[in-house]
Formats: sequence, C-alpha cells, structure tokens
Amino acid sequence: MPTVSAKYSQFVMPDHINVVGTLFGGQMIAWVDLAAAKVSHRFLKGADVDGAVTRTIDKVEFKQPVYLGDWVNFTATIIGAGKTSFKIKVDAYAEGRNSEPRLACIATIVMVSVKKDEDGNYKKTPHGKSC
Ligand SMILES: CC(C)(COP(=O)(O)OP(=O)(O)OC[C@H]1O[C@@H](n2cnc3c(N)ncnc32)[C@H](O)[C@@H]1OP(=O)(O)O)[C@@H](O)C(=O)NCCC(=O)NCCS
Repeated sequence: MPTVSAKYSQFVMPDHINVVGTLFGGQMIAWVDLAAAKVSHRFLKGADVDGAVTRTIDKVEFKQPVYLGDWVNFTATIIGAGKTSFKIKVDAYAEGRNSEPRLACIATIVMVSVKKDEDGNYKKTPHGKSC
C-alpha cells in the first residue's frame, strides 16, 4: 500500500506565545493532534467507521523554539496499522521570514477507529486497513 501522509500548516500569532516569548508547547501538541486527525481522515476513506480518536500521544520532542510570525508546517504519516489502531508520525518544521525551515517538534500518535453503536456510543471498530 502506498504511504499515506498529509500536510497541515499554522501561522504563529500572539495568542500562541508563552511567557518566554516562544510558541506554547500545549498549542504545538494541539496542532500535532490536528495534523494526525487529517492523515487519519485520509487513511480511513472507504472504511466502515465513523472516524478515529486519539489514544496516545507519545514521544513528543520539542527540538527547536518556534517564534511569533513563524509558519509551522506539519507532515503526518501513517507508519503502522493494527486491527482498530494505527500509528502516525508527525514532524513539525518551523519557518521564519528570513530563515530556512527547521525541525521544531516530532511526535508519535496512536489513533483508534470508532463507530457509533445503537445506543449512540462510539466504540472501537476494526478499520480493515493496512500499512
Ligand atoms: C480509544 C478507545 C475507544 C479504545 O477503547 P479501549 O477499550 O481502551 O481499547 P483497547 O485498550 O483495546 O485498545 C484499542 C487499540 O489501541 C491499542 N492501544 C491501546 N493502548 C495503547 C497504547 N498505550 N499504545 C499503543 N497502542 C495502544 C490497542 O493495542 C488496540 O489496538 P488494535 O485493535 O489495533 O489491536 C477508548 O480508550 C477511548 O474512548 N479513549 C478516549 C479517547 C479520547 O477521548 N481521545 C481524545 C479525543 S480525540
């Protein structure tokens, strides 16, 4: 099966900044989760499920600070698939107005595919996909 990946970008605004003047780590993790959600959406096309939820966010590493006015460009790639779960690697590159893109954050995420049952609850459900 060909590699499934997705790109996603965010611009760093004043609301995203912490007390030392760099991007707040929790904001970066929220964006990483969204990048993972985008590749999940793509990966699950055609599967008999309603979507996927985040089960784990592992090995988050903040490698470089990110600054106000940078673009952050995420690449999310499916790197493994189980029965209901699948694993995603996310790389986040920060890009300043006058600097080359630099690897700012990496993370591994496990998502689980879910489907709504008769009681209206979302239950883990095999996605039938491979990687
Ligand atoms: C996701 C959820 C439905 C899974 O239900 P569950 O009964 O806990 O399921 P399991 O523990 O059997 O795990 C389901 C899959 O995840 C995998 N998994 C569970 N914990 C894991 C971990 N720590 N690391 C890697 N994989 C893990 C299991 O191996 C299994 O994979 P498989 O079906 O491919 O073999 C449930 O845990 C849940 O609703 N969690 C909250 C999700 C949420 O609110 N996320 C934030 C908002 S998106």
